[in-house]
Amino acid sequence: MLYDFIYDNPTKIYFGKNSLDNLYGELIKYGKNVLLAYGGGSIKRYGLYDKIKDILNKANKNVFELSNILPNPSYSKLLEGVEIVRKNNIDFILAVGGGSVIDCVKGISAGSYHKGDIWQDLYINQKPVTSKVIPIGTILTMAGTGSEANGGSVITNDDVHIKKGRVYPSLLYPKFSILNPELTYTVPTLQVISGIFDTISHLLEQYFSGDDDNTSDYLIEALLRSEIHSSYLALKDMKDYIARSNLMWNATLALNTLVGCAKSQDWQVHSIEHQLSAYTNCSHGLGLAAVSIPYYKHIYKYGLDKFVKFAINVFNINPSNKDKQEIALEGISKLKDYIKDIGCPLSIKELGAKEEQLQAIADSTDLGGGYKDLTSQEVLMILEESYNYTE
Ligand code: NZQ
Ligand code: ZN
Repeated sequence: MLYDFIYDNPTKIYFGKNSLDNLYGELIKYGKNVLLAYGGGSIKRYGLYDKIKDILNKANKNVFELSNILPNPSYSKLLEGVEIVRKNNIDFILAVGGGSVIDCVKGISAGSYHKGDIWQDLYINQKPVTSKVIPIGTILTMAGTGSEANGGSVITNDDVHIKKGRVYPSLLYPKFSILNPELTYTVPTLQVISGIFDTISHLLEQYFSGDDDNTSDYLIEALLRSEIHSSYLALKDMKDYIARSNLMWNATLALNTLVGCAKSQDWQVHSIEHQLSAYTNCSHGLGLAAVSIPYYKHIYKYGLDKFVKFAINVFNINPSNKDKQEIALEGISKLKDYIKDIGCPLSIKELGAKEEQLQAIADSTDLGGGYKDLTSQEVLMILEESYNYTE
């Protein structure tokens, strides 16, 4: 069935080599006290920090900093940011980094004036945000999550081993995001690959659900084809501007809510990965890759026609003289080849998962699904299959 929907994406995107030129004009729209939030140091190593500080100074801002927001951002870091906002009457938050920095500042923005327990209320119980929020803007330095143009915020609470995502309403979307593909040239190859598979997975999570003829699915097929094509080119030459540019824009389009319109969606692969990384701190996209094949092999029969469509329209499988099951399995096998080709792992063992953790990961995974609602036992089977994967 096609669902009614509201498409409301207020994030203004500045895209391209000169996109940082727009920062000044955006900053002067907001108050004087700015929180500059960033990660573990790449922005200092590659000179971006100095450029941004110059622009902030020209815009006459009082700058406060929250640094060292690490991958799989922690709840304790979110609370550190909340403290800075509360003490210094912050008017605007500028996030510079990948999904981890951006997700963390959304939590800071939503939590700073929240009365009550931020983790319990906003993440575990997903209560609506009713208090004042701080406007945010982003300068994206790595492509993948789509966090630059959505309300997603995924936070890890290490005390309880829970990585929990929520989608904030459009009020908390970045007001603007600056996307310069050249800024992504310095991202380490494994992180580039992680971002590529994250984009692929966002598309698959929205695709493998529902069977109606639907514009969203045509868009997803096109984005998958572009992502696959551009990823091979980028991995050959990390400074291929066109390929890096396509990867960056694909990532935004894959999760700015556009291609999910009117659709039911899956997101079970993400739920499994979130708990996998709560236990292993693995890179998000690599974790997704390592559980995708056993998951899709497990559920394809429940959405057979869609898996056939995927095989033919995304991987050009020739359907003649084959039954639906053969075609669908060929599509999944091509996806597996692609995962290998780009250098993602197919086993969670490679990501540091321990056999004795699998039960706890399965038990703490949120359950749902596109074509089939999984049980914890089925999640465990998927984890075990990935864990025991051999060539
Ligand atoms: O911290 P620094 O030193 O900046 O290094 C980062 C980090 O180590 C590095 N990096 C980023 N840009 C760089 C760079 N290194 C050199 N040059 C650059 N230009 O890359 C590493 C990874 O960064 P991170 O932000 O963690 O990566 P990503 O963008 O993949 O974000 C992952 C987080 O986003 C969540 C994930 O679960 C994970 O916690 N997600 C957020 C979503 C959303 N908001 O909608 C959806 C996703 O499904 C995902 O769950
Ligand atoms: Zn993701």
